[in-house]
Amino acid sequence: MRWTERQRAMLRAMGLRVWAPVDAEAGPDVATTDVAELPAPAPAPSPAPSPARAPVQLPAAVPAAPASGPLRDASQLGWPELREAVVGCTACVLCERRTQTVFGVGHQRAHWMVVGEAPGEQEDREGEPFVGKSGQLLDNMLRAIGLSREAGPPETQVYIANAVKCRPPGNRNPTPQELAACEGFLVRQIELVQPKVILAMGAVAVQSLLRSTEPVGRLRSKVHRYQGVPLIVTYHPAYLLRSPQEKARAWDDLCLAVECVQAGPPP
Ligand code: URA
Ligand code: SF4
Repeated sequence: MRWTERQRAMLRAMGLRVWAPVDAEAGPDVATTDVAELPAPAPAPSPAPSPARAPVQLPAAVPAAPASGPLRDASQLGWPELREAVVGCTACVLCERRTQTVFGVGHQRAHWMVVGEAPGEQEDREGEPFVGKSGQLLDNMLRAIGLSREAGPPETQVYIANAVKCRPPGNRNPTPQELAACEGFLVRQIELVQPKVILAMGAVAVQSLLRSTEPVGRLRSKVHRYQGVPLIVTYHPAYLLRSPQEKARAWDDLCLAVECVQAGPPP
């Protein structure tokens, strides 16, 4: 195959065995609705990095203001105020059963921003995104490309946030209303971080950021734009835990995101 030894080492770090069937692993820690359908057969692998690729797809995604709720305009808030606003937010019903809000974690000017769906049980308990099983896989995926949530320079320490900041009861998907109510916080987080690339993981992140209900399998492997920032759609780690055979595609997505960062902003 096309993997170098180094890449193979990275793939192993992701728990990916390209040459043999992967054992089914334990189920996901959260119920997500990432595309149930599998994309068509073999992925068209992205061969050599070509910085020239960047078919800008999709709407120039201008997020609208949050649809409803007492959430004030978050667009002027700095980090401390934004965090405070989230902690005290009651803009949607998810506030009723949360243990705590889950704001986000990582470098405030990270080059990479990862957007997930919503806190699960463990995240709700600990107040940090992606700390359950999905989070372990996410950390492995990030490590495979030299990134981490742990303290480091903005090139390597990512910022991780969810589309909604409170746990949906029973890990159901957030409703469109809840996504809209919480969106202003995510929009502001992205504005403050000013990432060089956004990794949208799973259908819910995509729904919030790109306003698309297309399956992940159809949106991945191209460069979208969110407020001018390259955005790569990929599978949610919880989905990869259920469908490990898709890890190869997720790896391709990560490689595409790396290319975006390396290519820098369009001229
Ligand atoms: N899944 C998510 O999308 N986010 C989390 O924080 C945890 C699991
Ligand atoms: Fe507020 Fe978002 Fe929590 Fe809803 S999910 S209560 S909008 S912080």
